[in-house]
This record gives sequence, C-alpha cells and structure tokens, in this order.
Amino acid sequence: MGGERRDRIVALDKRHVWHPYTPMGPYIAATDPLVIDRAEGCTLFDVDGRAFLDANASWWTSNLGHRHPRLVAALERQAGRLCHAPLAGITHEPAAELALALVRAAPDGLEHVFYSDDGSTAVEVAMKLALQFWAQNGRPERRRFVALDGAFHGETLGVTALGGVEVFRRPFAGVLLECVHVPSPGDPASYERAFDALARTIREGADTIAAVVLEPLVQGAAGMRVYAPEYLRLVRDLCTRHDVFLVADEVFTGYGRTGTMWACDRARITPDLLCTAKGMSGGMLPMAATLATRRIFEGFLGDPSRAFYYGHSFCGNPLGAAVALEVLRIYDEAKVVEGVSERAREIERAFSDLAELPFVARSRALGMIGALELEGDAGYLASAGWRVYLEALERGVYLRPLGNVVYVTPALTIPVADLRRLLRVVRESVEAARVPRPQA
Ligand SMILES: Cc1ncc(COP(=O)(O)O)c(C=O)c1O
Repeated sequence: MGGERRDRIVALDKRHVWHPYTPMGPYIAATDPLVIDRAEGCTLFDVDGRAFLDANASWWTSNLGHRHPRLVAALERQAGRLCHAPLAGITHEPAAELALALVRAAPDGLEHVFYSDDGSTAVEVAMKLALQFWAQNGRPERRRFVALDGAFHGETLGVTALGGVEVFRRPFAGVLLECVHVPSPGDPASYERAFDALARTIREGADTIAAVVLEPLVQGAAGMRVYAPEYLRLVRDLCTRHDVFLVADEVFTGYGRTGTMWACDRARITPDLLCTAKGMSGGMLPMAATLATRRIFEGFLGDPSRAFYYGHSFCGNPLGAAVALEVLRIYDEAKVVEGVSERAREIERAFSDLAELPFVARSRALGMIGALELEGDAGYLASAGWRVYLEALERGVYLRPLGNVVYVTPALTIPVADLRRLLRVVRESVEAARVPRPQA
C-alpha cells in the first residue's frame, strides 16, 4: 500500500538522513526501516497501514499515548495565540502557569524553574548551575562531579562527562569535565557496598566536588538497572552532611514511570536540582526544565555579573509550555500515576515468569518498566536484543532493545488488554529469537 511513497521516503532517507545511534553503513546497505506514518493511542502505523504496539512510548516520552486529544487541543489553542516569544527578561502565561504547576508537583523545596529543550540540556543546566553557584559563593575549587558507573544523562559535551556507557563516552574522553564514576548500586539487595564507595569518594574529595548526579531508582540506558530507594536516602544524607549538591535526573523516571510521580518520592527526598523532560510534554514537543531550591536561586542574586547567563532560543516555548501544563492537568484529573499499580503488577508478573526461560539471565520490573537480560554478550552493542526486536516486529510490536536487554516502557495509560498482548508478544519473541529457525 505504501508502494511508491514508501520507496521515495526510504531513498531520500538513505541519501540524506544521518540517524542517531545508528551505524550508517549497515543501515544503508541492509536495513529495511519502519516508515512511520501516524500514531493513535499506543499504536504506531506505518505507510503500508501496518499497526505496531509502541512498547517504549516513543523513547520514553509519550506517557499518555500518542496524540492525546487534550494535548492536541491545547497545542492548537496555543498555536492560535502565540507560538514563540523569547524568555529573556519578558514572559508569557504558559511559562508562568507551568512553573507554578511544576513546583506544586515536584518534591517540596524546589521553587524555581529554569526551562530548556530536552533531557540533555536539563542536566547541562544543572551542571552549570552547580559550577557557577560554587564559583561565586566562596567555593570555586568545587569543579568535579560524581556519577554512577553505567550512568546516562544525555549527549551535550558537558553531560557526556557524567556518562558511564563506554561506547557513548569513548570518542570524547580526552576533552571532558572531570567526573569520578562510582560503582552502580546494583540490584536492590546489594547497594551497601556501592554506597560505601560513594561515601569514601565524598569524604575524601568533598572540597572539590560540585555535585553528585544520578538517575534516581533506575539507570535507564544502562539496561534498566533498578536499585533501592534506601540508597537514594543515604546519598541525600551524605550530600547534606558534606554540603555537596545532589542532582536528580528524572528525565526518564519522572512523570510516574516508576509508580510515583518522581522516583525521588519513593525515597522521600528532595534533591537540590531536579531535571525533567521527555514525559513532561507527553511526547509532543521538545521541552525540559531544571528545578532548583531557593538556596541555589539566591546564589545568583546581587550584582548582575552573578546572573546565570545561559539560555536557548526555545526556552519555555509557549507551545511546549501549554502542552506540558495540560499534561499535568491530565495527570491530576485522570489520576494517571494511581493507574500505574494495576499495570505494574501485570508487568512484574510477566517479567518474573520470563526469568525462568533458560536463555534469560535475569529480569526486573518497577512501575511501568519491565526488563530482561538475555544470556550472552552484554553491553550496548550486543546483538541478541535485535533478534528479539525483529521477532516482535513480525508480531506487531515495536520495541527497541538496549544491547542484550529487552525491555518495555509503554504509555502509563496503555489499556490493560493491549499491555497483556504486548507482554505475550515479548515472551513469544524472546522464545523465537533463541530457537534456530528451520532451514527453508
Ligand atoms: C536519564 C536521562 N537523562 C537524560 C537523557 C537525555 O535526554 P534527551 O535525549 O531528551 O536529550 C536521557 C535520555 O534517554 C535519559 O534517560
């Protein structure tokens, strides 16, 4: 059905589009890409009219499903009034109302909202705020960061320093800010040793450390590594004791992904800086924010030279802000986070059963996240997950593995019947990917 249209798109794409996270040689030579045409709820449709359940909510963004009618209406309403205005020294209603709504939704004590464009810039802002705060508030030697092994905080050059995924970091290793990587807290039962290593690093180096940055409760890109809320509580206490900032990167975990609005809520902590993006605008537009405590905000007051001279053309963009405000209203009115527990039980049960399969090394689940590790090569470039990806596509599910980790992160509002089908297909695809295909 896509016919000529599909052929033209693929030809243009292969001639001109340089894809993210994609080895382009094999892609151009051998990949027959999905060509997505439209989406509805939790389903993507390609140009041939084939339907695919979206197992990862479009890179963890479409938490309310695709093209939510209220979000589309909010976008249209705002587009009829104001599409863009710079936020430097002037303002507009969507930015102001969204800031209030974010402060109300965030852990207590985060009172100021700095807007940016995406998850990477939200963390970049947090790093720069921390560096500048210390530089102009009596501790200029605090210039190093601490992050977890396997961490992922985005792709700008600043945040690349925090990254612990070797293949993303290696090309830039010689030019990065200084960051100490400490052991990942591992599975929920074994975080103490990792915490001891972090505590040692902070004790010995607090005078030179600007901030500890972490993905609270789940290290997403590392392969959905889940760890204990107790670790977060201990880190919060440690940072407070040594007056080191704690940055919670909630770009993936925020907006209910782990079963509470923020992963920090599970540990009942307030970080000094909280980064949010992705689900913030429901997968509709690039939009991000870094929330800060009053102490940090006040550290930039006084002489104009102390201001935060940083911004992007689209900071607090009215379209994105109007949509993000509507996202929070929907969360509130439709009790979206409360709806997670029923679905989370389905995910937990299915992934616990999957762990029994002989070629599954281990599995884990938390909130709207289920993940399993296939036996064999580990790491981002491992190919086992891609065999499962192809099997799932044949069965009408789009999932994107992380190396040998196959995971689901569907919309929080996915209908339970669709979720069950998704989980069934994951199982069938994992089984099929490991059974040698009969010779034709
Ligand atoms: C925890 C975390 N932080 C930051 C980012 C970067 O976000 P973006 O891709 O929107 O720049 C990601 C992306 O996956 C992420 O998972």
